[in-house]
Amino acid sequence: MKKVIIRKTEEIDNWRRNINSEINFIPTMGNLHNGHIKLISTAKNDNSNVNLVSIFINPLQFDNKLDLENYPKTIDNDIKISFSNGADAIFIPSNEDIYPPNSKNIKFLKAPTELSSALCGLNRIGHFDGVCTVVYRLLNLIKPKNLYLGEKDWQQLLILKNLVLSKKLNVAIKSVPTQRDFDGIPLSSRNVNLSKKERKLIRFFSSELLKAKNNFQQEKKINLNEIIKKLSAKKISIEYLEHLHPYTLQKARVEDNISLLAGAIRCGETRLIDHVFLMKRRPIIAIDGPAGSGKSTVTKLMAKKLKLLYLDTGAMYRALSWLFIKESIDYKNEKKLQNILKDISIVFKSNTNLHQDVYVNNYCVTEEIRSEKISSIVSKISSIKEVRKFLVEEQRKIGESGGLVAEGRDIGTTVFPHAELKIFLTASIDERAKRRKSDKNCKDSQDIDIHKLKELIKKRDFEDSNREISPLIKANDAIEIITDGYSINEVVDKIIDLYNDKIPKETEMK
Ligand code: PAF
Repeated sequence: MKKVIIRKTEEIDNWRRNINSEINFIPTMGNLHNGHIKLISTAKNDNSNVNLVSIFINPLQFDNKLDLENYPKTIDNDIKISFSNGADAIFIPSNEDIYPPNSKNIKFLKAPTELSSALCGLNRIGHFDGVCTVVYRLLNLIKPKNLYLGEKDWQQLLILKNLVLSKKLNVAIKSVPTQRDFDGIPLSSRNVNLSKKERKLIRFFSSELLKAKNNFQQEKKINLNEIIKKLSAKKISIEYLEHLHPYTLQKARVEDNISLLAGAIRCGETRLIDHVFLMKRRPIIAIDGPAGSGKSTVTKLMAKKLKLLYLDTGAMYRALSWLFIKESIDYKNEKKLQNILKDISIVFKSNTNLHQDVYVNNYCVTEEIRSEKISSIVSKISSIKEVRKFLVEEQRKIGESGGLVAEGRDIGTTVFPHAELKIFLTASIDERAKRRKSDKNCKDSQDIDIHKLKELIKKRDFEDSNREISPLIKANDAIEIITDGYSINEVVDKIIDLYNDKIPKETEMK
């Protein structure tokens, strides 16, 4: 495809008509560095859409005239960098193009107060209104499918996500982790203005944030005053240093698993921001739903794609059912059962086919637990109080440090009620029966008549939803996905989008 530079807003429509493709849009203010390169190359590697980079120094987002005048302008180099890293087109409009005088079509927007009055908004009056106005204008002109933004400007990212939602814009926001220089400071166009001494100060600031993050992992707490003291001792001028909820930007609460430690400092004329995410444990995704909803396939794929541990709690109940039958254990005797459970071990091990096997008391039962015999008894076994108590504890032990996606029937309600993302996956009885019949893992189901299979599924649903302990119900904060008519990959992609919306990409980095 011929690479093009577009300078007039009128040319955008024409260009869009000719490309015959969806657009990935990477808005910038120029002076491109490795942070922007990461945005462009991520867009290029994500899909086969056409990549458009815009370069426009938006005067509306500068509250200080001098800052605007000093903003580095390196357009020739920016064009080279954009094209050599995957841009197909570059949009370089003039001020008059974006803000034509006397035009009634320009909407000057206000950023939402809840998000824009904290952090940078405290001292940069009107800055986020300017960002919203220009991005809204650019999105309406370009009409991209995806918008790529850096997590470095976390507050901006939240405000623009809110803009897309509130204006019901049909664009997906893809965020890219903060990129750091060799010495740990976040890449920023303003870094070129730093003297050696100022750079040393920002390096100290960034390393203190990183230290706080590492300490938090151990101690699960943070002492803001201590950090402020250390920065002040170096005569670093702090504009703000806050510990907040990462999405609402309200004060962080003790129960928040992920929180944001964000700060801004002044080095001479330059103002620099940095942040880290503090995490008590890695994220957890809970996927609940009835049999045949596609849970297992979806959860396995999610685990692979997001590099998370896969916890199949249903397999644990099946493994226990298998053992009870095999050893004729009298599971109706509560007292006896408690003693027996103490000596049972259920573990998962990855096998050579990149799947995982389930072992009960060191015996591999992966295949045997999928028989119709086990299917017909597992609901009863899993409604026994002692069994649930035992397995829920085992599951919580596995999930102690997070980093897993768990599937079952009570994950979001009982096992991990604080999971970051809860999905309730379901499908119609017809669809679920069809799936069971063609499931190679359920050999017995393939021989059962489809009507009988539907009856069995209904019976299982009834038992699961009406049992006394941990019945199968959708958690209040779970998102329901009805999978009829969707391919597995479509469902997985949808859940991954939801996950990316709830978990900063940066938290995935070591
Ligand atoms: O992050 C930036 O560079 C700017 O705020 C943006 C998003 C390009 C809008 O001018």
